[in-house]
Amino acid sequence: MWGICSRTMVKVGMAKPCGLMKPCHLVKPVSVTRVSGRYLTHQKGLPSLPVPPLQQTCERYISALEPIVEVDELKHTKELVDEFQKAGGVGERLQRGLEKRARSTENWLSEWWVQVAYLDYRLPVVVHSSPGLVLPRMNFSDKQGQIRFAAKLIAGVLDFKMMIDNETLPVEYMGGKSLCMNQYYEVLSSCRVPGLKRDSVVNHAKRSTPPKHIAVVHNLQFYVLEVYNSDGTPLTADEFCVQLERICSSSLQTDMEPVGILTTQHRDAWGRAYVTLTQDKTNKESVSAIQRSIFTLCLDGAMPQVSDETYRSYAAIQMLHGGGSQWNSGNRWFDKTLQFIIGEDGTCGANYEHAPAEGPPIVALIDHVVEYTRKPDITSTPMVPLPMPQKLHFNITPEIKKDIEKAQHAMNILAQDLDMRVMVFGHFGKNVPKTHKMSPDAFIQMALQLAYYRMYQCCCATYESASQRMFRLGRTDTIRSASSASATFVKAFDDPSKQNIEKVDLMVKAVNAHRSYTTMAISGQAIDRHLLGLKMVAVEENLSIPDIYTDTTYAKALHYKLSTSQVPSKTDCIMCFGPIVPDGYGVCYNPMNDHINFAVSSFNTCKDTNAAHLAQAVEGALLDMRTLLEQSPRAKL
Ligand code: COA
Repeated sequence: MWGICSRTMVKVGMAKPCGLMKPCHLVKPVSVTRVSGRYLTHQKGLPSLPVPPLQQTCERYISALEPIVEVDELKHTKELVDEFQKAGGVGERLQRGLEKRARSTENWLSEWWVQVAYLDYRLPVVVHSSPGLVLPRMNFSDKQGQIRFAAKLIAGVLDFKMMIDNETLPVEYMGGKSLCMNQYYEVLSSCRVPGLKRDSVVNHAKRSTPPKHIAVVHNLQFYVLEVYNSDGTPLTADEFCVQLERICSSSLQTDMEPVGILTTQHRDAWGRAYVTLTQDKTNKESVSAIQRSIFTLCLDGAMPQVSDETYRSYAAIQMLHGGGSQWNSGNRWFDKTLQFIIGEDGTCGANYEHAPAEGPPIVALIDHVVEYTRKPDITSTPMVPLPMPQKLHFNITPEIKKDIEKAQHAMNILAQDLDMRVMVFGHFGKNVPKTHKMSPDAFIQMALQLAYYRMYQCCCATYESASQRMFRLGRTDTIRSASSASATFVKAFDDPSKQNIEKVDLMVKAVNAHRSYTTMAISGQAIDRHLLGLKMVAVEENLSIPDIYTDTTYAKALHYKLSTSQVPSKTDCIMCFGPIVPDGYGVCYNPMNDHINFAVSSFNTCKDTNAAHLAQAVEGALLDMRTLLEQSPRAKL
């Protein structure tokens, strides 16, 4: 069964979940301007997420369906939508319910969203929900280098944490509007906890005694590493080095049970295994120490030796799922909101559990940490003797061993199924679309549409994440990149009967349509979360689910064969995630000024998809679109 995550809303048995802006080109992403501000005061000043007008959403829903469904299906859906939105109809009742909720909550969507998109979602978080992040390969290739880098990284995270703790984290702005900073306060010291039917997330930073340790895992063995002195100052990088060396030399055994691999399971299976695991007092205390830690540091063993060409794709796999039980999948605790991963060969990155946050705050934290690790070493003060990091023990009963074996088996099948291709598109970056006065993000999205059309001769429902952080507790909405304008453009592009001048005109229209949708989505006027909200009102009020939601067209609209996201960063890194439907692709990209990093994923079990082919097709589409612009007189405008 396929569920929903932040990038999708697909079939789920239960609830079937899932302004006035500046001109498009002036809307900037996060981290444009930063000023200091106290968290709560800042949060209070943010606007609430609006409830869009019902009729507007209904009209936009029909337009969004045009490129992806058949004419007769669209006709039928129009009838259902007319019935839904008619005066005195169920749509109006649900709309009133949603508006009432909006008046009485900080954000009418946020709680539902975390529940429905993440905590009720039962597929493994690995691949299906938690993104990985690959950093550029670091300049070390042995244990000593690994430990040295890890020590600096811990110090860098604590440096960032200090801004969170002091509430001095600079407020971020997008298009001149300040953004909600809540996600930064949710990513450290928090952990997902599996349940039998529904998970939860516990943020220990909000407890009266916030945690002062991190969890380190090496050779599948977990340790508690205290990171603060008794006076509250953090240990130095040199001290972390000593502590990490002690951990590594006391965990040389390589035949330990990979308890961490239990967290890769289907959530129902993990929920059951969790009950068994934590029946034992020692196990319960060990699990609790990991859950309460500020973050997890995974010191990985070897990864497969690969050529330079495939290195980044393998690194992405290590960050996304660890490569299977024979590699590093057991050297993780995937429920942990933030895991930093450091390999002995310089492969570095992170994995994060998606429920508390989106990619941009995680990347901003990582950008800070990477910058910190590049600073020259400070000559340290003499070290005081430190207590030995505490090893976390697990008593493995035959039942737990069986659960571990099952988890290993399932993880290995998933690892084999995932096809991941990281492509560095080196011909140009944001510079080229900007020269042609186009939004780079819209340009890339149109290249994705063209690439897909060239491979499949049709358009598909496409998801792109749009930030709603202009609103208090805002998360995301969907930019539906497949539009009527994009469909006309991709169909014309390889048509020899069309003149170049016409093709450029269609490209400009498609890019502008995408940018308008983006503006609409970031200002809280997109359709997907609104439709979800209306449905959730029906569920909560025990009303029958309106026909527009049981319509096959709705299922088609939510079957995102392209699930995409832009995650920009200062560091030359790339985030990666799995497809969200069995026959689809996951595409994450980081547009830098003069190149673009892409991570494309698909499933090997689907014979119709191939990550490398789509990556190649995207490269071809980007190059062809540039050539067209360069050859056209309009491009010189
Ligand atoms: N002419 C010239 N320059 C233009 C332009 C135009 N017509 N349109 C945009 N630009 C410039 C912008 O000013 C910006 O400049 P900068 O590089 O100096 O910052 C740059 O091009 C990028 O703009 P654009 O490509 O339009 O995208 P964006 O930065 O506005 O981002 C989204 C668009 C949708 C990615 C962003 O709004 C968003 O929501 N991001 C969050 C996504 C998210 O949460 N992902 C994580 C999911 S886990």
